[in-house]
Amino acid sequence: MNFRQAIIDGLVPLTKLPAQAISDLLEIPPQPHLGDYAFPCFTLAKTLRKAPAAIATDLSGQLGQSLSFIDRIETSGGYLNFFIDRATLVSQTVRDTLTAGNQLGRSTQGEGQTILVEFSSPNIAKPFHVGHAFTTILGNALAKFYQHLGYTTVRMNHLGDYGTQFGKLIVAYQLWGNEAALQEHPIQELLRIYVKFHDEAKEHPELETQARDHFRRLEAGEAEQVALWQRFRDLSLLEFERVYQRLGVTFDNYNGESFYSDQIPAVVDWLKEKNLLEDSEGAQVVRLDEKNLPPCIVLKSDGTTIYASRDIAAVLYRDRMYHFAKNIYVVGTPQALHFRQVFAVLEKAGFDKASDCIHVGFGLVKFADRKLSTRSGDVILLEDLLSETVDKTLEIIQKNAALRHPDMTERDMQEIAEKIGIGAVIFTFLKNSRERDIVFSWEEMLDFEGDSAPYVLYTYARARSILRKADQEGISYTTCPDAALRLLASDDEFALAKLLESFGPTLEKAVSVHEPFMLVRLITNLARVFNKYYHHEPILKTSDPDLRAARLALVDAVSIGIRTGLDLLGISSVERM
Ligand code: ARG
Repeated sequence: MNFRQAIIDGLVPLTKLPAQAISDLLEIPPQPHLGDYAFPCFTLAKTLRKAPAAIATDLSGQLGQSLSFIDRIETSGGYLNFFIDRATLVSQTVRDTLTAGNQLGRSTQGEGQTILVEFSSPNIAKPFHVGHAFTTILGNALAKFYQHLGYTTVRMNHLGDYGTQFGKLIVAYQLWGNEAALQEHPIQELLRIYVKFHDEAKEHPELETQARDHFRRLEAGEAEQVALWQRFRDLSLLEFERVYQRLGVTFDNYNGESFYSDQIPAVVDWLKEKNLLEDSEGAQVVRLDEKNLPPCIVLKSDGTTIYASRDIAAVLYRDRMYHFAKNIYVVGTPQALHFRQVFAVLEKAGFDKASDCIHVGFGLVKFADRKLSTRSGDVILLEDLLSETVDKTLEIIQKNAALRHPDMTERDMQEIAEKIGIGAVIFTFLKNSRERDIVFSWEEMLDFEGDSAPYVLYTYARARSILRKADQEGISYTTCPDAALRLLASDDEFALAKLLESFGPTLEKAVSVHEPFMLVRLITNLARVFNKYYHHEPILKTSDPDLRAARLALVDAVSIGIRTGLDLLGISSVERM
């Protein structure tokens, strides 16, 4: 049963406020003595011209009988504090969680609405480094969150597959390209010749002119340039795919920058028609002075398109294609200005969905104890980070297995280490609010006792192992009657149920501000309280069979909560470790 919703439904007729307004006001109090939910009456005070405390008293009197699951309502400081009957909360929540399974927290709030989540968007012919890991992991989680809330989600990878650098690559390839190397390590080879181009161009500036000419011919669709560009793109994508597969990330489309290039003339016409284009030293720009932004360049002086113009075209295309409710860009915060300019141009041109375009930024990635082997210069490749984490995890797993699971095969251990290692990386990216910089440290990332994926995964595996034992002993718990579930009365049991009960609202909150850390925090807390519980209470050895079944049902519910949370974050669980 959705207690929160029932409270909202109870308040609607009494306050005459719309359900959404009540939902926005209804809080989860910071301390338990203030109840499970709290409703502030200050907004109503204005419309009703009555003191908040008096309104709270009135409402509490009127509500009292109608909500059967409420133990009591207290009023204090202009708030209504709702205390849900503990046994009802625990039994209902455990029951609901078992019924929901991996659909826990699902809702229909997004029905009929399409959300575009653009993320990852690496640049072709460039290494896939840890910065791209952030957008890839964050975007994947957000797309899953939206999906879970019933939105139709489209996962878009806006590949950086266009621009003057491709003119440079074409020149470089024709002069110094090594076919065999390109086959074997495409990105390494493309990077090598790209770096060489820049070195050589210092001495031979004519190379730059050639590069510009090649790019112009590429834009004009000339066969030779297009063929080379296509090869660079295909080879790069193959490498990116490998990383995506390892992370379990998929996309619905890879319409990169190139895809929009032939839509620019229409954009230019549109902006001209709106009288927005101005000449600035030969380039065509839209001035954004009134928004205190630098002008947005739409066409360069040589008539070629630019990053921003392709983004403007992309928004218009996406709207025609998908009629999006939101168009979300998961891109590093350093590009915030770029997106403000693009959205401002659209707004100025009268595009009515400019405000539904949202830039979701994030911080930088740093390394505390940077001892990571790098294959290409300064950047840390995501693949190397993943592999090294998995290797380190495997060492730990091997040690643990020797103690706990002598029957585990090397293959099992590798499989588990891959999941935990990748999970540890994902968790590290998502555990703090996204605009904070990330400082990687092996110690923290793989701390089996800390705020880490291994800790949460280990707790999950522990819960599952209890359930396996119960199954082996033929103890049934999935059909535990309500009367038994109502026996779960300890503080830890209540705390676990409260966390499970907050799963859906937490997910909704996390989506509304695009902050997956909220869900990370929830499952970490579940794991913390569960570990405490498990150490204090006998579960399988509980003597009263009804209470034992109820405890097992709670363990099952907790495991569902953790697993569903992890899955939404993009982390696979392991049944033992
Ligand atoms: N390819 C760009 C980069 O790696 C990110 C693209 C962001 N998306 C966009 N629509 N501009 O920096």
